[in-house]
Parts: sequence; C-alpha cells; structure tokens
Amino acid sequence: MIRKYVNYDLSSHNTFGLKVKSRLFVEYDSQDDLKDLFPSSGMNDKTKIFHIGGGSNVLFTDDYDGPVLHSAIKGISVCEQDDKCVMLRAGAGVLWDDFVDYCVSHDLWGVENLSLIPGEVGAAAVQNIGAYGVEAKDCIMSVETFNTDTREFVIFDKSDCAYSYRNSFFKQHKNYIVTHVRFRLSKEARPQLGYGNLSGELGQSEQTLRNIRNAVIDIRRKKLPDPAVTGNAGSFFVNPVVDRLHFESLKRQYPDMPYYEVGEMFKIPAGWLIEQCGWKGKALGKAGMYEKQALVLVNLGGATGRDILHLAKTVMADVYNKFGIEIRPEVNIL
Ligand code: EPU
Repeated sequence: MIRKYVNYDLSSHNTFGLKVKSRLFVEYDSQDDLKDLFPSSGMNDKTKIFHIGGGSNVLFTDDYDGPVLHSAIKGISVCEQDDKCVMLRAGAGVLWDDFVDYCVSHDLWGVENLSLIPGEVGAAAVQNIGAYGVEAKDCIMSVETFNTDTREFVIFDKSDCAYSYRNSFFKQHKNYIVTHVRFRLSKEARPQLGYGNLSGELGQSEQTLRNIRNAVIDIRRKKLPDPAVTGNAGSFFVNPVVDRLHFESLKRQYPDMPYYEVGEMFKIPAGWLIEQCGWKGKALGKAGMYEKQALVLVNLGGATGRDILHLAKTVMADVYNKFGIEIRPEVNIL
C-alpha cells in the first residue's frame, strides 16, 4: 500500500526534533509499491526526492520543497543457513535496533556492537553505520535495490557496494532505493571487545551476546543523548583523516592527541578536536555541543535547523583555524 500526505509535519521523522514540513510525504510497504510510484504524480522531478530512514542522520534547515519517501518494508526472514552461519534478509524499514535484538535473541553473532544505533536497516546499509570496532558492512552480504530510472530491481553483492567508513555506492547514487538487506551472522561466538572501554564495561560478566549488547547500550546511554529527550543526530561530523606529515606535526604540538592508523593515513577523533577548541558543552543560542561527547550537536529546545547549521559552521571554522583540518558533516544537510 502507498500512503501520500500533503504538507506533512516531519517533527517525528527527524531526531533533531525540528518542526519542519515536506510538500509531500510518501510511505510504501512493498517492492511492488515502488514500481507503482515511479512514475506517478508528484514523483516526476527525481532530483527533489529525499528518501528518509529513521531521520537520525538528517538536518532540515527549512521546510522541504519536495517529496520525502519512507520505506515501511518490514520483516526479517532466514534465507539460508549451515552449521556455522545464518543468512538473514531484513526489510529496509525494519528498525535497526529491532534487527540487532532479533539477532541477539536468536544467538546470532555479528551486529551486537551496533546495538541502540537509531535508524532503520535500509539507511544502515547506505550509511555503513559503525560503532565499537564494527561496521554494518562486516555482516552485509548483499543489498537489494530498486532503480528509479530503469524501474528494475538490482541486487548488489557487498563487493559492488563500495563500502568505506560511513560511505557506500548508494550515498552517491540516489536513484537506487534499498528495499532489503541480506546479512551473514555467525552461530559461533565471536565477541569483538577490542574497542575503547567495551571490555571494561562488560567487566567480569560472561561474554554472552546479551551481556555484550547490554554493555554497548550502557556505554551509549552514558555518552550519547537520548533523541527522545534531547534532539540530536549522533555524531554530527565524520572523523577526519590526515597524512603522516600533518599528523606528525600535530602530534609534536599535542602529544596526548588520540588517533587511529588507517593504512598510510591517520584518523583523528573530531570530538577531541572540537573539545580542544573549547566547544564541548558550549552553545550558540539554542544549539549546543553535547557536554559528554563534543561530536554531537544538540537541540537544546526550540532551535531551528539554521541555528544548528550556524553552530556547525562556527565549530568547523574554529577547528580549521586551530588544526588546519577541515571536518566534514556526517549528517545530511537539506
Ligand atoms: N574524545 C574527546 N572528546 C570528546 C569526544 C571524544 O576527547 O568530546 C576522544 C575520546 O576520548 C577518545 C576518542 O575521542 O579518545 C574517540 O571517542 P569515542 O570512542 O567516543 O568515539 P568517536 O570517534 O568520537 C565514533 C563514532 C560513533 C561511535 C563511536 C564508538 C564517528 C563519526 N563516530 O565516535 O558513532 O558510537 O565511535 O564506536 O565515527 C554516530 O556515528 O552517530 C556515532 C555516535
């Protein structure tokens, strides 16, 4: 079924909680619906279409002058399995954390470190979400899509998805709409506890899937604001990567600077850079930098998208002036 709403209030579809509207909001339940939608009235100018997931990675700076599309394709099913692995197929509209909970409840390893990340399965595959040393791509086998130009269904093997840090083929090619994602999960225990304080949070507890999921949830609750209480979109920026020359000169100046080596390059946590610029816990009007994680911009109540963008640009300029590093938003700015 296809549901169309005109002049639609998007407050509950963006985790910043911004009071914006879209000219048209279209929700669909199935692959067949997508075929009926393209072409149909209101959907002719494809450049104006924005496909939204859980709205947890988007900043609307104004009302949206185009159709906003949302997938309500649900369902999780087993496609294949052997002694070691299970292949699951999940609809793009399944809540990501429901999917993680399903895996944990069925003793399937792989996505437990990605617990409590807001958003939906389709967006997780577009964005290649990541946390605590794991990225969605690590478990994705293939991605089922609908090409709005050719009206064909196309399945991408993982190797064709061009996955990298918070990036994929689908981010650059908006004419492919994700309908389902296939994941390979392990029946054998594979705890991944190497990142940060995860093993510390787990403490003496047994390394079960449920305990690891709970530890991740506890860390996230301590560090990140709950969007139901304080509007935010998680990390507002991606962590920048610099070359060795730049890194070594920064390290001489800031010996305590955290970093991760990525091949020949060095990734510097944007949260650290922002904190060094004095922005952690500071605000410009009703938009602020979260006091426990400077990478997160928060709506302190009644901020507009423009207030949040103004703060983001001010912080970006300060980081550039102090460190010579351009930090880039992770969030889609519309
Ligand atoms: N740090 C600071 N100050 C801050 C924040 C961080 O100094 O205000 C330092 C920390 O002390 C640590 C380093 O920066 O040494 C890394 O911090 P953290 O472990 O919190 O991770 P992050 O790099 O800031 C990334 C992801 C998060 C994910 C965490 C944990 C990005 C853009 N963000 O943050 O993802 O939860 O790692 O894996 O890669 C998201 O994408 O929305 C998100 C929350």
